Amino acid sequence: MLDIVIDKKQDEARQGEAFATALNNLFTKKFYIESYGCQMNFADSEVVASILHQNAFGSTTNFQEADIIFINTCSIREKAEQTVRKRLTEFRSIKKYNPGLLIGVLGCMAERLKSKFLEEEKLVDIVVGPDAYRSLPSLIAEAESGQKGVNVLLSRDETYSDISPIRLNSNGVTAFVSIMRGCNNMCSFCVVPFTRGRERSREPESIINECKNLFAEGYREVTLLGQNVDSYYWQNSSTDAVVSFAKLLEKVAQISPLLRVRFSTSHPKDITDEVLFTMKKYENICKYIHLPVQSGSTRILQMMNRTYTREWYLSKVNRIKELLPGCGLSTDVITGFCTETDEDHKETLSLMEYCEYDLAYMFFYSERPGTLAARRFADDVPEEIKKKRLQEVVALHRNQSLRSMQKEVGKIVKVLIEGNSKKSNEHWYGRSDNNKVVVFHKINNLQKGDYANVFIESCTAGTLIGKIK
Ligand code: SAH
Ligand code: SF4
Ligand code: F3S
Repeated sequence: MLDIVIDKKQDEARQGEAFATALNNLFTKKFYIESYGCQMNFADSEVVASILHQNAFGSTTNFQEADIIFINTCSIREKAEQTVRKRLTEFRSIKKYNPGLLIGVLGCMAERLKSKFLEEEKLVDIVVGPDAYRSLPSLIAEAESGQKGVNVLLSRDETYSDISPIRLNSNGVTAFVSIMRGCNNMCSFCVVPFTRGRERSREPESIINECKNLFAEGYREVTLLGQNVDSYYWQNSSTDAVVSFAKLLEKVAQISPLLRVRFSTSHPKDITDEVLFTMKKYENICKYIHLPVQSGSTRILQMMNRTYTREWYLSKVNRIKELLPGCGLSTDVITGFCTETDEDHKETLSLMEYCEYDLAYMFFYSERPGTLAARRFADDVPEEIKKKRLQEVVALHRNQSLRSMQKEVGKIVKVLIEGNSKKSNEHWYGRSDNNKVVVFHKINNLQKGDYANVFIESCTAGTLIGKIK
């Protein structure tokens, strides 16, 4: 009996020593993280960085000196997955001369492929889905002992609300703040509900505190992120008080008039007048709305399960233009969705002409395994037609966006300075309230994070060029 006790004590001592050594090792370990996909994935990488820092990992921006390389992946289109696979091939070649290197796949592609990833990409050591980042330290430990570390469990309540993200590649002025996760809409083309799970909102106090802290650290713009921000919903369990998206927006805007507030993405079926009135009420809520339409044809919208019609969408756009004149408007468009005819396509073009988008993200349809569309409809528009229609949409948008830039020439716009212009250290780079890039010559004692009233003298398709008057 005594022997056993002594043995146990020795064992504990040995374990303690091993733990201390492991911890020591961990302190010297560095991770590198590369992100793909939407802003939410970039925000998640900052949560991952925070979890790893808390567990004594240091970060590096040079993957050559990393002990662990993470790639935070996107599955939205086939091409996004191909990009990730290509990058993995490059990382794999580093592993040849650094066999101790661990490679971890995070995010949506990890969630979609789960442990299949390990069969397909043998040199991947860790596979972690978007709701399982808290388990990273233990999965790393498993991988270090030669096992594969996998956790792709989705959660109904994980929002990482208590984790203060570590800002990666930050300009120190603008930051993303996640307000919800997952998506309950079942747009038939979309993989997100499968990779990100059920929609859940983050507790408002933690959002407001994160924004307050950012402001105190010198940040001057926050972008509130969710796949469908208008369905943000929080009910206080003791008072039953409800916080809607409009309320949350108001609370964040009240932190300081010097803190700009943006948000993305709004769903046309859910954006409310209350949100538009809140935007109108606060000068510091930027007048810019990303309102993805996907298609201008009601028949296609129905097949996409977007749950609005062309007319409904146009009525929302009219309301925005009526309540918020000059408000920037952007969209996402998909060409060549299942059964799309030339007529449907023309309806997309005519809708775009009407809406005069300032910015558009345009894609041709890419069938995603497991989605409603993949199960129900044939992907029957030939690739060359999808691409031809995409070119037409892009060409139309290019003209429109140039016109929308030209409209700003001659105006004075309020710019938040984000840093040096890419082309010259003698120019500042910033954005206007309605999200247009502005470049202007440095004068006075202006700093990054300051606001400047800039007179716009000329423009290119992507940039307004001005000077301080
Ligand atoms: N939650 C946002 C969109 C997130 S995905 C919303 O509801 O609008 C970003 C964009 O990718 C979508 O708006 C859509 O235009 C595009 N997209 C999504 N799935 C796609 C697919 N299978 N093929 C092509 N584009 C797709
Ligand atoms: Fe995908 Fe639709 Fe959800 Fe956007 S709203 S993430 S397109 S399912
Ligand atoms: Fe891609 Fe996932 Fe975002 S699929 S677009 S990274 S939610």
